[in-house]
Amino acid sequence: MIIEVCVGSSCYIRGAPAVISILQSLIAKYGLEEKVILKGSFCMQQCTQGVTVRIDGVVHSGLGKEDASRLFHHIVLPSLEAVGGED
Ligand code: FES
Repeated sequence: MIIEVCVGSSCYIRGAPAVISILQSLIAKYGLEEKVILKGSFCMQQCTQGVTVRIDGVVHSGLGKEDASRLFHHIVLPSLEAVGGED
């Protein structure tokens, strides 16, 4: 899974660094470093009142740092379980 957090100027000032660090610590907490690639991205042309995050190609915009953990628990974990269930 690839999670890209926009670090364009609009997202950056609206909290991208906080979103990245929250996602980073959740990935570490769940030991998912091998399954999840977290990286920064240029502007995704979705500049809103919040941060834009793309998860496996699906764009989520307008996020605040309080949304980072919701995104992780509601999208990242369930889709990893769906994919990795056979391991
Ligand atoms: S700066 Fe993030 S979508 Fe434009």
